Amino acid sequence: MNILLVGSGGREHALAWKIAASPLVKRLVMAPGNTGMAALGELRPLKVTDAPGLIALAQEISADLIVIGPEIAVEAGVADAAAKAGIPCFGPVAAAGRLESSKAFTKAFTDRHGLPTARYRTCDDAASAKAALDGFSPPYVIKADGLAAGKGVVIAQDRAAAEAAIDDALGGRFGTAGARVVIEEFLEGEIGSLFALCDGKDSIVFGSAQDHKRAYDGELGPNTGGMGTYSPAPVFTDELVEQVRTRLAEPAFAGIAAEGAPYKGVLFVELMATADGPKLVEFNVRFGDPECQVLMLRLESDLVPYLVACAHGTLAQAPAPVWRDEAAICVVLAADGYPESPVTGSIIRGAEQDFGPDVVVFHAGASRDEDGTLRASGGRVLNVCARGATLQEARDKAYAAVARIDWPGGFHRTDIGWRALGAR
Ligand code: AMP
Ligand code: GLY
Repeated sequence: MNILLVGSGGREHALAWKIAASPLVKRLVMAPGNTGMAALGELRPLKVTDAPGLIALAQEISADLIVIGPEIAVEAGVADAAAKAGIPCFGPVAAAGRLESSKAFTKAFTDRHGLPTARYRTCDDAASAKAALDGFSPPYVIKADGLAAGKGVVIAQDRAAAEAAIDDALGGRFGTAGARVVIEEFLEGEIGSLFALCDGKDSIVFGSAQDHKRAYDGELGPNTGGMGTYSPAPVFTDELVEQVRTRLAEPAFAGIAAEGAPYKGVLFVELMATADGPKLVEFNVRFGDPECQVLMLRLESDLVPYLVACAHGTLAQAPAPVWRDEAAICVVLAADGYPESPVTGSIIRGAEQDFGPDVVVFHAGASRDEDGTLRASGGRVLNVCARGATLQEARDKAYAAVARIDWPGGFHRTDIGWRALGAR
């Protein structure tokens, strides 16, 4: 098979690593990919939002499958263009992608289809948003409506901070993503990420993980796209997985199909495990980053048949995926200043040495000089991932590798997995 993988982050590096290991794959082309992915196939310098360009590339390489990594490619209609061109695609059409690209759409969708979630109000202007705060109590949760790379949510401890967050969001900080805000009830509980694949009609659960969203140790600092993950997460008992599948994932797939946009791809259900059962925090219409990294380390089965089954509508015939009976962890190394204003250009040494069989370093935002020197080129720069018999073992291996990477211009959290390990 020939596969075109769209994206350039750590998530796509992990997908490429797993796809390239499949005996089914003859040719893997990545657009645009990143320097860490170059050893796994061919890189082509296209924008992930350039739907016509990507389709032309897929045709040029006789792609049997397009795999969409990031949400901005979903929003740009890459899957819609693939469908028009008759090319099988893993990744939903843009209309289904609204489950991520508009929080206002998603909240209304949960009402239409009876999905449990936080009580909310959607507002288009600052005055009504501030007035709507009367209906909530602190901490206030303020969300920009559209895509903001995981940074559009503010948890405000008091009214003044909530009003400032409203002004900030509606004042253009997130561009058109902030033209509306959603205010919602603060949910108490433990957060988790469950993944489900769907082929338009049938669906299966495809792993779970837990993310650390805050920038600094002890869950302090601003929200980020994710500073580290681990899998399995103890919060996901069999009972919780079953509840999330039947109350959130399956109703979402049925609902979006009933609304005319059958879902083909992976749905990332971010939920709060509350005393009243799981409640939706948000949907994402792609694998999580860095959740995908730990899932790929734990997935024993070949990934490619599942991607193909989603695109072809044959998931019902696919065997249950096999996961290694091991834990995996991912520690994100980010550039100083991330998430507000990452400082790029700093030199990273030692990231590409052999760290042993259970450690993999995925590239997220790094570039390479002509002489091979690696430099930070984004906010989240490297993902140091490890596998072990226990989470503690995986974590020890990951942090041992982190210690061998020489990057004075970056930082990382030292407490990834604390919840599962019962200590900070
Ligand atoms: P989101 O971008 O919607 O995933 O939100 C980012 C983070 O904010 C989540 O991972 C949660 O930790 C937190 N969060 C979002 N919504 C709520 C809520 N209603 N109650 C409590 N925490 C929330
Ligand atoms: N790590 C969270 C996300 O990918 O949105």
